[in-house]
Amino acid sequence: MKRIILILVVVTVFPAIMSFARVNDRVSGKILDTTNIHFTGKYCTECHEKAPEKGEDILLKYNGDYSKLCKCHGYTSKSYIHPVDIVPSEEKKSRIPDDLPLVNGKLVCSTCHDMYLQCQNEGNTQVINRKFLRGPHYIKRTTLCFRCHEEKQYAKLDPHNQISESGEINDNKCLYCHAEMPDAKVQSYSDVKLIGKLEVLCFRCHHKQSKFHPINANHLRVPSEAVLANMEETEKTLGVILPLDNEGKISCPTCHNPHERGVLPSEKASAQGASEKYRLRLAAKNLQICIACHKDKFKDMKLE
Ligand code: HEC
Ligand code: HEC
Ligand code: HEC
Ligand code: HEC
Ligand code: HEC
Ligand code: HEC
Ligand code: HEC
Repeated sequence: MKRIILILVVVTVFPAIMSFARVNDRVSGKILDTTNIHFTGKYCTECHEKAPEKGEDILLKYNGDYSKLCKCHGYTSKSYIHPVDIVPSEEKKSRIPDDLPLVNGKLVCSTCHDMYLQCQNEGNTQVINRKFLRGPHYIKRTTLCFRCHEEKQYAKLDPHNQISESGEINDNKCLYCHAEMPDAKVQSYSDVKLIGKLEVLCFRCHHKQSKFHPINANHLRVPSEAVLANMEETEKTLGVILPLDNEGKISCPTCHNPHERGVLPSEKASAQGASEKYRLRLAAKNLQICIACHKDKFKDMKLE
């Protein structure tokens, strides 16, 4: 019962707050970086040359180039977490349902995102389906995935399994996380180009892992000066790296090394933790990983 009330409150109050925020935007008359232009029934000319009626020519700006239409999010077809602007393999083509439409035979942004849904002032839809994904409102994100992917096969996709039995590096795996094919021999952290929001990518497969971990603390944030200083010291003295994401926040790869042992030359700091227990850059045993950032602050903590 409590849940139902909570849902009702969210469904009724949230759109009201959102429309209040929109009135403010309208009054200020500007589109700021923080303005959410979706589901407003306005800002049509951000994406259309002029506001179309249903059935008319939609006259998309930038010739309908989604990397420009969606410029606030910074994705290109190369850096997006899912392959786009590609012709699906025969095997996939036969599985893709009609309500996930291809454009000119290609899988594109609007195959999964119902753009027209967000053209309209639909407060309630916005609450239930913020990312305007097509199809029924999926309880689990993976339900959408398995409309095109075979569930069993997908579970076997292990991006950390990067070296074949014959010892060759599997390039396809690298491009799960890297926007461009990295060269493990010569490139280091500052040279490689990772896709944005790696965290979202990790969560797609590791959705069972709580966001609040380790130890129920929120670690996915910008570290305090004190923690940053500890991290720097650890990196120097123990020869590891604890890389922050491109917003300077702690993210999954800060603590976990996603590479298989053997991909990065073993003498490199970035190779530490590859294929170790939980893929941790420093072991959980004796709280080494915690001390890396907290020194002795949590020395009585019990892990595992
Ligand atoms: C964030 C960008 C964006 C905004 C803002 C936006 N649109 Fe759209 N709209 C699109 C895109 C992209 C498509 C094409 C979808 C497709 O090809 O499946 C589209 C499609 C449409 C269509 C065609 C729907 C159909 O099923 O044929 C209409 C009509 C439309 N928009 C009207 C509007 C109006 C009116 C507004 C303002 C109230 C608006 N849009 C605001 C991006 C936007
Ligand atoms: C195969 C289906 C699929 C395709 C193709 C797709 N998306 Fe998505 N997109 C999703 C799903 C599912 C989510 C929700 C992810 C989540 O909630 O973690 C999402 C979330 C997003 C988000 C919000 C989260 C974030 O990462 O910032 C943006 C922005 C986005 N997509 C943009 C795009 C753009 C731009 C394209 C084309 C370059 C595109 N999407 C193509 C399925 C898709
Ligand atoms: C509209 C159909 C469709 C949906 C929905 C979809 N995919 Fe895909 N996915 C594809 C196609 C097509 C490819 C390219 C490979 C191919 O053609 O077999 C692909 C490739 C991938 C790959 C690269 C590895 C591979 O199999 O080539 C991953 C990882 C992936 N998808 C994950 C996801 C996830 C996670 C979701 C749900 C958020 C999702 N996909 C939803 C169609 C889809
Ligand atoms: C699951 C995500 C993921 C996959 C898959 C992945 N990487 Fe990375 N890679 C990262 C992250 C995150 C970093 C930055 C942190 C680091 O250096 O470990 C990185 C960094 C690197 C670096 C720079 C290392 C340094 O010395 O600083 C190289 C080189 C590299 N990756 C090569 C590869 C190659 C080659 C593959 C494929 C065999 C691959 N990666 C697959 C996520 C991934
Ligand atoms: C396409 C799915 C997929 C993606 C994306 C993915 N992983 Fe994994 N991950 C796996 C699979 C499969 C395993 C193998 C062990 C398992 O079943 O848990 C694994 C194992 C792990 C483990 C070890 C778990 C344990 O119990 O020892 C960690 C830690 C991990 N991944 C972190 C990450 C991080 C960090 C990212 C993002 C940079 C990431 N993963 C992206 C599928 C994925
Ligand atoms: C501050 C360090 C830190 C960050 C950030 C972090 N982890 Fe972990 N993770 C750990 C530690 C320590 C463990 C092992 C002990 C535990 O379970 O608390 C672990 C365990 C795991 C496991 C294995 C769980 C099991 O029981 O098999 C997975 C999978 C995992 N993390 C994924 C992720 C993902 C995905 C993210 C990003 C959302 C993430 N981690 C962020 C430190 C971290
Ligand atoms: C990469 C650095 C890093 C690692 C590794 C790490 N933490 Fe944290 N932890 C942080 C940051 C940053 C915060 C937020 C507070 C701050 O910035 O000082 C935090 C917050 C916490 C908090 C919340 C209380 C507080 O001080 O705000 C606890 C509890 C905690 N961490 C325990 C642990 C434990 C236990 C481990 C080892 C399993 C661990 N942390 C590993 C960086 C880290």
